[in-house]
Amino acid sequence: MRTLTLKKESIYDGTLLLVNAHHALGINHVTNLAPVDMHFPHIQLQRDAANILRLLLHAISAKSAIIPVSGYRSYMEQSAIYKDSLKYNGQTFTQKYVALPNHSEHQTGLAIDLGLNQKDIDFIRPNFPYEGICNEFLKIAPNYGFIERYGKYKEIVTGIAHEPWHFRYVGYPHSKIIANHNLSLEEYIEWIKKYCRYCRFIYHPHYGSKVEIFYEPAEEEQTILSIPETSLYHISGNNIDGFIVTLWS
Ligand code: DAL
Ligand code: ZN
Repeated sequence: MRTLTLKKESIYDGTLLLVNAHHALGINHVTNLAPVDMHFPHIQLQRDAANILRLLLHAISAKSAIIPVSGYRSYMEQSAIYKDSLKYNGQTFTQKYVALPNHSEHQTGLAIDLGLNQKDIDFIRPNFPYEGICNEFLKIAPNYGFIERYGKYKEIVTGIAHEPWHFRYVGYPHSKIIANHNLSLEEYIEWIKKYCRYCRFIYHPHYGSKVEIFYEPAEEEQTILSIPETSLYHISGNNIDGFIVTLWS
C-alpha cells in the first residue's frame, strides 16, 4: 500500500472545486494557464483542461465554428465585468448571469464560455444553441471531463440562470456521472459525500475497468490515506470541507 498525506489547505485545490455564491474561491493559485485556441491567445484555461478541450473540439471537427469567448478571469477582471454589467444591464440581469468577484469559477481556470462563431458575439451570453455543431459538442463533452455547468431547471441549486455556453472542466469520469444523472455540480458534491473510504461509489467506464470514488473529510490538519500500490489516483479538494478521491484499477 502507498500512504498519502493530504493537507487541509489542499481542499482549495483541484478540478472538483465547488465555487458559487455560498463558496468563495479559496486560495488563488492558478499559475499553469494555456490558450485553448492559438487564434485567441488571451483566452486561457488550466493547461490540462485547455489541452483536453482542444482534443474535444478536434473530435467534432469544430475548426473555427466554435470559438472561446471567456476563460480564466482574474479577480480584477471578474470585478470589472460585474461592475460593467451592473451599469449596462442592471441588477436583475447581473445577478442571474454574472458571479460576484471571488465567487466565479472563471477564476479557477476551469471554466470556459464558448460561442458559435458568428458576426456579433455577446460577451456575457454567447449563442450556443442545442443544435448542429454546438449540440455535438454538448453530447460528447462529458467523455472529455466537461459539463454544462448551469443547466436548465437548476437555477435554484446553482444560483445562476441557464447558461448553455458555460462549460466546466471537472475531469472524467465525474463529468460522465454528473451528465448521466442530470446533476448540477452542487448536487454531485453533496451526493458523493454518501460514499466514504469504507463504502465507495463504483463506476465501470467500460468492461474490465473500475473506478472507485469517495469523499474524505478534512477534519484534521493532515489526513492520511492508504491506497493500493497499483492504483492510479486523483485527488481534488471540494472547496468546502474535504476531498474527493478517485482510484482507477
Ligand atoms: N457567468 C458565470 C456565472 C460567472 O460569471 O462566473
Ligand atoms: Zn462563464
